Order: sequence, then C-alpha cells, then structure tokens
Amino acid sequence: MCFMETLLLPATSDNILLAAETIKKGGLVAFPTETVYGLGANALDAMAAGRIFEAKQRPATDPLIVHLSGVEQMEQVASQISPLALQLAETFWPGPLTLILPKQPLVPEAVTAGLNTVAVRIPSHPVALALIRAANTPVAAPSANRFGRTSPTTARHVWHDLQGRIEIILDGGPTPVGVESTVLDICASPPCILRPGGVTRERLEAVIGPVTVLASGAALEGSLPSPGLLSKHYAPRAELVLFMGANALQELLSYVKAEQSAGRRIGALVINADADLLEGEGVLVYHLGADVDSAARSIYAGMRWLDSQGVDVIVCRDLGESGLGLAIRDRLRRAASRVITT
Ligand code: TXA
Ligand code: MG
Repeated sequence: MCFMETLLLPATSDNILLAAETIKKGGLVAFPTETVYGLGANALDAMAAGRIFEAKQRPATDPLIVHLSGVEQMEQVASQISPLALQLAETFWPGPLTLILPKQPLVPEAVTAGLNTVAVRIPSHPVALALIRAANTPVAAPSANRFGRTSPTTARHVWHDLQGRIEIILDGGPTPVGVESTVLDICASPPCILRPGGVTRERLEAVIGPVTVLASGAALEGSLPSPGLLSKHYAPRAELVLFMGANALQELLSYVKAEQSAGRRIGALVINADADLLEGEGVLVYHLGADVDSAARSIYAGMRWLDSQGVDVIVCRDLGESGLGLAIRDRLRRAASRVITT
C-alpha cells in the first residue's frame, strides 16, 4: 500500500469535524474510545471498510464492530432487535459492551466477514460519540493496532503502529478502561461471552442472569510447563510467560532466576502487592497499580514499554477472574508464548 501523511491531532471540536469529513469521504480515522483506540471507517461503505483490513494487515475473515452514537441507529445495521438486546442496550450503553445481532443487508460483507450477524456497540467516550454523530453514519472500528499486536491505549501507540497508513489520529489522552469491550452473543441461550471485556460477567449476570464464557486457551489448563499452543494475539515482541495457579508467584520468581542465569533480560508486569519481591532483582518492573481496574488500564502500555526497553522475556502472573481480572486473563493467555500453571 502507498504511504500517506498521517495527521496526529488533539481531539478538539474542529478536529473532530475534520475527522468526520474524512470518514464521510471514505478515509480512516483513529479515535479514542473508553476501552482502547479504534480505527474507524464508514461502516456502510465497503471500500472504506476494506481499507481498515489493509491498514491493519488484518485477515478479511475477522469481522469488525460497528459503533453507533445512539440506539435509534440500531435499525440501520441490525434486522432484529430483541427485548433482551434492548434491555442490555438500555443498561450498558453507552459503554464497553458489544452485542452480536442479526445483520441488515445494508451492512457490507466486508464489515461482517460474510457472517449474517453484526457486532454493535455505543461507546461512552465523548470524542467517539461526537465523531460518530458528526460523521452521521455507523462507524466500523477494530482496535487501532497492527493485527496480532497489543491494542493501543494512547494516540502514540496508534502512531507507532499505523503512521503512514491512515489519514488522521485524534488524540484524546489515555483510554480509561484499557481493555476492549465485552463481546456478548445474545442469540445463544444462555447468552455467551465470546470475549470478556470492560463490562464484567458479574455486572451482566446481575441484569440478565447466568451467562456462559467461551473458554480461551482451555487446552492449556493444568499443564506444566505448557508449550505455546495459542494463536498469538494481543502480543508484545518479547516472549511473554504467564504464571497461573496457587504457586504462580513462587514459580515466577524461580523462572526469573533461571532465565537471568541464562543471560536473558527480564521485564515484569506486576501489581503493587508483588512489586517488592521483584524490585532490586535485576528485573525491569512495570507497575500495574493496586488492583485489576488499574491493571486493565495499564497492561497494554506496560507490554509496549517493556518491548521498547528491549527485554527478552516478560513475566506476569494471573490476577484472578473477578471483575476485569477475567478480561486481563484472556488477553494475557492470548499474548503468552508460554502459560505455566502450578
Ligand atoms: O473495545 C472494543 O471492542 C474496541 C473499540 C475500538 O471499540 N474494538 C475492538 O475491535 O476490540 P476488534 O476488531 O479488535 O475486536 C472485535 C471482536 C473480534 O474478536 C471479532 O471476532 C468479534 O469482535 N466480532 C465482530 N463481529 C462479530 C460477529 N458478527 N460475531 C462474532 N464475533 C464478532
Ligand atoms: Mg483488536
């Protein structure tokens, strides 16, 4: 593809209008959402949507999420809106929940990768909402990273991955949630979480009752040590090793020692409670803060930062499955070269 000049602009109202014009003309605009930065194009324009796949080097078999600015736009993209869909929309939108709905024929196949369903959400970030409203069309947007890489939570991350490939990056600061939206299939009974994310399982179940969670990397459960069987996604360049189970921290510490004796440079993603054990051990420590909410906000930035420091290995431990812990676990498993369960 040809190189183009990419404008990195603060998300002022004038620049949002300029970006909306660019989307109307079939261009690509990266913008902040509450989860991660998205790479947006007119969702009703097959050519524009096609350019997203080219810019990200994303396989055409991976469908995009269609972003709306209000529920009144749902009928443009979805052919059936069940009472359950409406209840979820009323409760969680705008916000980090994506619903899988039967699609309108108007939505190009390029957007849905030929499926007869469409993924839809209304983001809560004011810049995203203003952009979609001004573009006056549903906006298809995957995360604004190169395919398979770590999702971007700052405009700089987007610049690093997509500069020269897209027209505009709107800088609205770091994204407040930090992991992607929860993708919920409500055609399944009970509804099934296809990807855990910003709206937690607990919050969903409090409103609609039990849901199931599609297992990520279930093949790796219970093995020690486990070879890298997962298709790599959300991944840093360095080899990421995830420790799970009751003795995760102990195993992590001995692994670090062994790797250091082999001359490898180690980076660690750690919550505050674990930091003391790794500080001063010759490990480059990236602090994820006190809890799963702060870890979600900083985990992708941490992977990118440790990569930029040239570490060979990144170690981290599982943070449990409550709240945003489940989404973090899912992303770490997919990013990992090895999952070691003890
Ligand atoms: O938070 C987010 O969801 C971010 C921001 C930008 O909104 N977007 C995002 O998009 O993470 P992306 O493309 O990186 O992930 C979309 C996910 C993929 O796992 C895709 O397979 C799934 O949604 N998806 C999209 N359409 C689908 C469909 N019709 N059926 C099942 N899964 C679908
Ligand atoms: Mg993505």
